[in-house]
Amino acid sequence: MTAEKDLHTLLASMRPELRDGEFVYVVWPAGRPLTGAIEAAVREAEGLTVVLPRDEADSLGLSYDFVGAWITLQAHSSLEAVGLTAAVSGALTEARISCNVLAGFHHDHLLVPVVDADRALEVLHELVGASGGHTPAPELVLRNEQPADRPAILALTAAAFAVSPVTGLPVEGQPEEVELLARLFECGDYLPGLSLVAELDGEIVGHVISTRGWAGELALLGLGPLGVVPRLQRHGIGSALMKEMIGRANAARERGIGLLGSPEYYARFGFVASTSLGVEAPDPAWGPHFQLLPLAVWPGGVSGTFRYAGPFGTPPVVADGAARRDSIDRAPQ
Ligand SMILES: CC(C)(COP(=O)(O)OP(=O)(O)OC[C@H]1O[C@@H](n2cnc3c(N)ncnc32)[C@H](O)[C@@H]1OP(=O)(O)O)[C@@H](O)C(=O)NCCC(=O)NCCS
Repeated sequence: MTAEKDLHTLLASMRPELRDGEFVYVVWPAGRPLTGAIEAAVREAEGLTVVLPRDEADSLGLSYDFVGAWITLQAHSSLEAVGLTAAVSGALTEARISCNVLAGFHHDHLLVPVVDADRALEVLHELVGASGGHTPAPELVLRNEQPADRPAILALTAAAFAVSPVTGLPVEGQPEEVELLARLFECGDYLPGLSLVAELDGEIVGHVISTRGWAGELALLGLGPLGVVPRLQRHGIGSALMKEMIGRANAARERGIGLLGSPEYYARFGFVASTSLGVEAPDPAWGPHFQLLPLAVWPGGVSGTFRYAGPFGTPPVVADGAARRDSIDRAPQ
């Protein structure tokens, strides 16, 4: 492949890609043989600077200040290309993001502060767009949760519920939905086909779960928690997860789905007050906030009080001895 020199073509065809992990610059100890996963090195009169993964630097006991995210500009730029570095660093400077540029034979690489990584990618995609190119929109994948996804799901749940959907205030400590979810994953009422993640560019950005519930002797589903990473809320991901869940529940010939949440939010998916279908809320005080979606094989003539899976109803006792209230899915207020 011939390396591209034309700036306009380069910018328009550039695909910025974020590598996994965090990277640091260290001054390599004089006289020490080079070992470990070194990604780049620059020799200067004062000594040797190397760039390597942060955990590698930690395990070698090397100190550093700057912790960067690594973005590779996937375009085969010639080392003689004029202006690419200036255009990229200019756009990032305008967005007040500092960047260190490394040129390899095949690609250019940027190290930006870890906290600015997402914004830097946005700025670079805007630069591609402004140059007449387009970055294909990443595809939202909805799929079954795998056990290996759980740490990421719990982290996104913590972030989604860091502000209480009930009070609108920041939650102190870990939101209770995180522990509820961890217990749902392990309980006997967990249904493997009904714990779904939304994945965007390999990142888990949303999750919803339904577990076994009952109205009298009738087996139903209890939905929740449902969460989307805060930076991508109101982009349709929660709705996509809800629709996928409803589709899968219908395909599995489930009878209906119960949940506690805002009627205003869940009505868009067809949920109605459970009492209108003969089912009482686990707590009568929930009133119209306890809702049911009758699925295709809803039997009719149902009566009884809804019971959630065990972890909803057997909260652990908190330090002050008071039983924690049920943790359940609530819609935004
Ligand atoms: C609630 C939540 C799951 C919705 O997912 P989402 O991807 O943000 O929502 P969608 O983009 O699919 O739907 C957007 C609609 O939901 C409503 N909505 C979503 N988030 C909202 C919020 N934080 N406040 C008020 N309304 C909200 C809006 O009415 C919006 O309607 P619009 O299209 O008319 O603007 C998500 O915002 C979230 O994780 N929130 C924090 C955790 C939470 O409250 N979970 C329980 C939900 S019952």
